[in-house]
Amino acid sequence: MSQSVLDLLENGNGYVKVCAPMVRYSKLNFRQLVRSHNVDLCFTPMIIADSFIKSSKARNNEFSTSPEDTPLVVQFASNNHDDFVRATQYVAPHCNGVDLNCGCPQRWAIKEGYGCALLSKQRTHPLLFSLPRTITRILYELPSM
Ligand SMILES: Cc1cc2nc3c(=O)[nH]c(=O)nc-3n(C[C@H](O)[C@H](O)[C@H](O)COP(=O)(O)O)c2cc1C
Repeated sequence: MSQSVLDLLENGNGYVKVCAPMVRYSKLNFRQLVRSHNVDLCFTPMIIADSFIKSSKARNNEFSTSPEDTPLVVQFASNNHDDFVRATQYVAPHCNGVDLNCGCPQRWAIKEGYGCALLSKQRTHPLLFSLPRTITRILYELPSM
């Protein structure tokens, strides 16, 4: 049964065991394995929002889940609101939350303005400052997919 992440954090017993996002590793099979060892909350690997929204092939490659794969947070890399929100719309019915990667330190990611590039531009980057308001607006404005 699907479980709210907030419920888990607020009402869990003591420690909440989280399996952090790991590119190449934390796909469905890995999540099933760690859940069988009592992990409470799983993340997907970082998924590039830009390619995810462009192609169903990318979506099928990058994201799969099952009814038991919950609670689940899907992590995206994005450098703009629209990609992040559109990618979120695809996965929203199948997960319990989304996460914007603000920590990936790899050179290619920084070059694209992903991951920790968002933090290094913390004072000026519009994505981080206006994200909550923009997401709310766009999600209400766009028809569901
Ligand atoms: C192979 C590998 C892949 C990772 N991929 C991601 C990722 O996709 N997104 C992310 O936010 N962190 C990623 N990380 C960082 C981990 O989620 C985690 O924050 C880091 O390993 C520190 O974990 P610890 O505090 O349990 O030691 C990755 C780490 C490793 C080792």
